[in-house]
Amino acid sequence: MTDQLPLTRIPAEPARAEAIRAAVRSALLPLGSGFELGRLDHAEAFFKLVGDPAVNDPIATLPRPITLETCRGFIKDRIAAKARGEGLLILMVGDGGRIVGYQDIAVWPEWSAAALGGAIHPDAQGSGRGRAGARRAFDWIFETLGVDLICETASLDNIRSRKIMEGAGFSYRGEIDLALPGGGARRSRYWELTRPEWIAFRDAHPVGPKASAGAIRG
Ligand SMILES: CC(C)(COP(=O)(O)OP(=O)(O)OC[C@H]1O[C@@H](n2cnc3c(N)ncnc32)[C@H](O)[C@@H]1OP(=O)(O)O)[C@@H](O)C(=O)NCCC(=O)NCCS
Repeated sequence: MTDQLPLTRIPAEPARAEAIRAAVRSALLPLGSGFELGRLDHAEAFFKLVGDPAVNDPIATLPRPITLETCRGFIKDRIAAKARGEGLLILMVGDGGRIVGYQDIAVWPEWSAAALGGAIHPDAQGSGRGRAGARRAFDWIFETLGVDLICETASLDNIRSRKIMEGAGFSYRGEIDLALPGGGARRSRYWELTRPEWIAFRDAHPVGPKASAGAIRG
């Protein structure tokens, strides 16, 4: 996980940080929901999804170059992060084991903070699923993992991600040079959302049953 984020750093009490680690380590996804924790045997299907530039271009956290081998390394890294209580890789698995989307959650227990990354298969992009899934995921991250802050980044030309943050009550904090896993940096927009801000926003902007489809359930 990058040590560059979050920008706002309020140290968590040790017991609180440990509770967050425990919540990440024990996080369960409902059986039969189509959500699966990333495993090494998903590598080929994951590579098929993220090997497409329509998926990987805007994503700073994916390895470069993107090959089957680097995808395996990425999944291995996320499995190790879960064991430390610092991250979760959640895959949305469709018919025949095809991966139709993923959520990559970074967690900083010491700052009581998390970040959500990920993608949706190009066939389903632009259909409202990203917005609905992100909202459910923000809710799940605050409620189930117990963090106090979610921070998000997006490349400057990523209009969909920008609209998702703006549409979920995030506060825009400006541009940063986001360090890339293989070296170098990418100029990115940066947002933050605290738990009270999210609760106030969510309660003022309830979503209908249709908009909640395709999201994480705790
Ligand atoms: C980013 C991503 C997850 C968004 O999911 P999505 O289902 O495609 O997006 P949605 O259809 O929910 O649209 C999100 C917002 O962008 C708007 N939007 C969608 N397509 C758009 C377009 N071509 N131009 C302008 N706005 C657009 C939507 O209207 C919506 O805004 P609103 O809530 O104000 O109406 C998805 O596009 C994706 O996987 N992209 C590639 C990887 C990526 O960018 N990951 C995020 C890295 S930070």
